[in-house]
Amino acid sequence: MIILGIETSCDETGIGILKIRNSIFENLIKKKNKLSLKEKESLLKDLKIKILANQVASQIKIHRKYGGVVPSLAGREHKKNLPIVFESALEKAKIKEEDIGEISFIYGPGLAPALIQGKNFTKEIAYKLSKSIWPINHLVAHLYSPLLKNKSGWQKIIFPVFPALGLVISGGHTILVIMKNIFEWQILGQTKDDAIGEAFDKTARLLDLPYPGGPEIEKLAKNGNPDKFNLPRPMIYQKNYDFSYAGLKTAVLYLVQELKENKKFNETIKKDISASFQKSAFEVLIFKINRAIEEFKIKSILVGGGVASNCYFRKEIKKLPVKSFLVERPLATDNGLICAFSAIFSIVKGEKPIRPEELDISANLSL
Ligand code: KG4
Ligand code: ZN
Repeated sequence: MIILGIETSCDETGIGILKIRNSIFENLIKKKNKLSLKEKESLLKDLKIKILANQVASQIKIHRKYGGVVPSLAGREHKKNLPIVFESALEKAKIKEEDIGEISFIYGPGLAPALIQGKNFTKEIAYKLSKSIWPINHLVAHLYSPLLKNKSGWQKIIFPVFPALGLVISGGHTILVIMKNIFEWQILGQTKDDAIGEAFDKTARLLDLPYPGGPEIEKLAKNGNPDKFNLPRPMIYQKNYDFSYAGLKTAVLYLVQELKENKKFNETIKKDISASFQKSAFEVLIFKINRAIEEFKIKSILVGGGVASNCYFRKEIKKLPVKSFLVERPLATDNGLICAFSAIFSIVKGEKPIRPEELDISANLSL
């Protein structure tokens, strides 16, 4: 069985294709799924999965000159790129359109003009192949993404021990959830203002670095002094699991203004600001994760989203007292493969696909 995943929530046009080998799984879609939680879990553990393609057309170059993603431009580019990326994914996977068994699509959260183009394209393919569609929540795709290895050849789903923490850190979200089992979770906390990736992007702009800011700050931080500036750790001691990153970015704004006035803003200082910012941003996350591990007797932690590709953070999280599953770096930022992968969980859980005419987007969807 072949699953297609379509992603157009922001500035990446992504098409992913997965292959699954398991007859019980294939029959699940046709019949009413009456499996117990235990049976669903063991079915997931038994599945053999193979990545056939993960093609992504990035629009970074287009949005860079505006310092961030321009939604209308993103929509226009998706429309242009989708058929091309789709064709190249079929070619990479060495399959024909008719070989596609199931179609999945990230219907939100994301930028409405971008999601709409993905929706139109998904509907077109679904009509052509007479298929239903699995609508996938962008955040759920990031949440499950650490359970997939980025390798060719057959693999099994990585299965964490529960209760687990799930952390999604991206350009649009900073969400911590507690997972009771593979299908059920509850939000513990989230950002009250800017997402962590957004803070990286905005801080990078203050330092005259190009979009997206995360990788740029990480690069500079490698040669900077993380203790040079004592930046705020917003909400660190508040007895909740919420975050706030707008204040941290504003502290950098004032610092840069002061340094510029005193003619001390130079390349060396930019490295120190990057290192200090990065340390501060992740310290709050790690601190609250540690508290949650203790309070809820957590056994493992899953981390997904673009910011999870940060190597400094990856080292810090490995120091936690529980096993951590970090999304592999090539699968951290938005792509169609994690959408197709997420569809496996929807299918096994017993959700129902929808008809193409029912498909809609949901730009502000939560976890
Ligand atoms: O998950 P993603 O591709 O898109 C959203 O769902 O938002 O994440 C993109 C975000 C951007 O804010 C980008 O700056 C950040 O992930 N990012 C990083 C790194 N690589 C990407 N942040 C920190 N360090 C990185 N190495
Ligand atoms: Zn994302």
